[in-house]
Amino acid sequence: MELSQRTRMSNIIGIALVFLTLALANSRVVESRKQGPTPLCDFQAIDCRKHSAVLTDFGGKGDGKTSNTKAFQSAINHLSQYASDGGAQLIVPPGKWLTGSFNLTSHFTLYIHEKAVILASQDESEFPLIEPLPSYGRGRDAPGGRYISLIFGINLVDVVITGGNGTIDGQGSPWWVKFRADELKYTRPYLIEILYSKQIQISNLTLVNSPSWHVHPVYSSDIIIQGLTILAPVDSPNTDGINPDSCTNTRIEDCFIVSGDDCVAVKSGWDEYGIKVGLPTRQLVIRRLTCISPDSAVIALGSEMSGGIQDVRAEDITAITSESGVRIKTAPGRGAYVKDIFVRRMTLQTMKYVFWMTGSYGSHADEGYDPKALPVIQNINYRDIVAENVTIAAKLEGIKGDPFTGICLSNVTIEISSLSKKKPWNCSEIEGVTSKVSPQPCSLLPDKEPGSLKACDFPEDKLPIESVPLKTCSIIGGKYF
Ligand SMILES: *[C@@H]1O[C@H](CO)[C@@H](O)[C@H](O)[C@H]1NC(C)=O
Ligand SMILES: *[C@@H]1O[C@H](CO)[C@@H](O)[C@H](O)[C@H]1NC(C)=O
Ligand SMILES: *[C@@H]1O[C@H](CO)[C@@H](O)[C@H](O)[C@H]1NC(C)=O
Ligand SMILES: *[C@@H]1O[C@H](CO)[C@@H](O)[C@H](O)[C@H]1NC(C)=O
Ligand SMILES: *[C@@H]1O[C@H](CO)[C@@H](O)[C@H](O)[C@H]1NC(C)=O
Ligand SMILES: *[C@@H]1O[C@H](CO)[C@@H](O)[C@H](O)[C@H]1NC(C)=O
Repeated sequence: MELSQRTRMSNIIGIALVFLTLALANSRVVESRKQGPTPLCDFQAIDCRKHSAVLTDFGGKGDGKTSNTKAFQSAINHLSQYASDGGAQLIVPPGKWLTGSFNLTSHFTLYIHEKAVILASQDESEFPLIEPLPSYGRGRDAPGGRYISLIFGINLVDVVITGGNGTIDGQGSPWWVKFRADELKYTRPYLIEILYSKQIQISNLTLVNSPSWHVHPVYSSDIIIQGLTILAPVDSPNTDGINPDSCTNTRIEDCFIVSGDDCVAVKSGWDEYGIKVGLPTRQLVIRRLTCISPDSAVIALGSEMSGGIQDVRAEDITAITSESGVRIKTAPGRGAYVKDIFVRRMTLQTMKYVFWMTGSYGSHADEGYDPKALPVIQNINYRDIVAENVTIAAKLEGIKGDPFTGICLSNVTIEISSLSKKKPWNCSEIEGVTSKVSPQPCSLLPDKEPGSLKACDFPEDKLPIESVPLKTCSIIGGKYF
């Protein structure tokens, strides 16, 4: 044994002794706590609450059959009185809790126990109609109003939805059937939608089978989305995972998403309505995302981007069997911009496209759009990417007279499937550079210093949302579950 190893060994023994002493001391503490309240669940949150209640205090029945809409709403209405007195948390205990839509309140935590399932009602009358979003001018499925989301919040501050991986099940299949048969008069509900709010946390939950998008923060800021498992059939319509929409300062991390549409779709309003509202999505971090999306993108930017999208940082992204990586979707009429986009460390397996930009996406809110409102697509950076079993490396299609500029690709290795008969690159109306990219890129993306690696940009600073500390909160006492 070398000296340094021996020192390390004695250090380890020392540390082990400290731990043993602590453990012995601790066992006495636990002993003495046995009479008092026992902490049952610890979780991390932007803030802990002074007051707690459990759904059953408000008449909740976890039998999977009784509607709990009134129980949820009266519990939250009651707890809203504590907003200025340390806040409150509502505990959803083990059981199956059928419910229609309910509204959240400020300084509030909805804690969904590991063995609790919130089941969305399939009765449309449990989802009252609300106005379309001003930046969309209409519902996405149909003109006019839309069904309110299952869990809804507006004008809030400091809201947490979390749990030890508890479940929210949107039971979306009747909605999908009606959507496909064109039988819906209004737009389908989302699973969670939060408007005009700040300091939002949605974490450690399993979300399944939303009627449409799963998580939709809009016109909001300071948002942490962490540890979500989102599952929907890969053929279900518009079941996007997480859609930050006209939001500032958002962090999405450690999520696993399998769905029928984009895993993450970054948005900011639609055509003339989005241009008029003018609220961009910016300062967005997406990291440690694992995605399966056979017919859509791992991360889509657009197609509704008429308030602008700027400063998106995506890293450590893994995808299997997905249509495309980080895709830009836009069209004449959208206006605004997608700029300062930074992507690094993507590992992709079985993809149709690694890079895809579409300037002719179409899909307009109505005939009132301005075809001269051209989007600016600029400073788009991708680096450190490995992809296997790919059909087409890139399809990069800008807009005639409005090229997409400042595209940079570096350190990219794409293995094209031997079965693919397509040309690996198809570029038009774009400008940019590449470095160490294989297979050899299209001529519009030259390598200016062949042989050397000129890495594309990725910002070195941190966004404010990356340094928001989480506190450890506990649910104390055995009376809840
Ligand atoms: C989510 O769960 C993981 C694993 O149990 C834990 O490390 C993490 O702190 C939790 N996050 C939050 C926000 O509670
Ligand atoms: C929830 O909020 C929406 C929008 O403000 C409102 O239309 C609806 O009536 C509220 N629901 C309840 C039960 O208060
Ligand atoms: C949460 O539950 C889902 C669905 O059961 C499971 O796939 C996932 O691994 C769980 N996540 C954690 C962190 O336990
Ligand atoms: C190139 O990308 C691979 C995969 O992400 C990474 O492991 C490697 O360190 C990168 N090389 C350089 C020189 O940055
Ligand atoms: C490669 O991709 C094709 C689809 O393009 C798929 O059918 C096949 O299973 C994939 N092969 C591997 C080894 O993943
Ligand atoms: C390139 O894409 C255009 C559409 O943007 C398509 O019409 C054309 O056929 C493609 N070319 C090749 C060689 O795949």
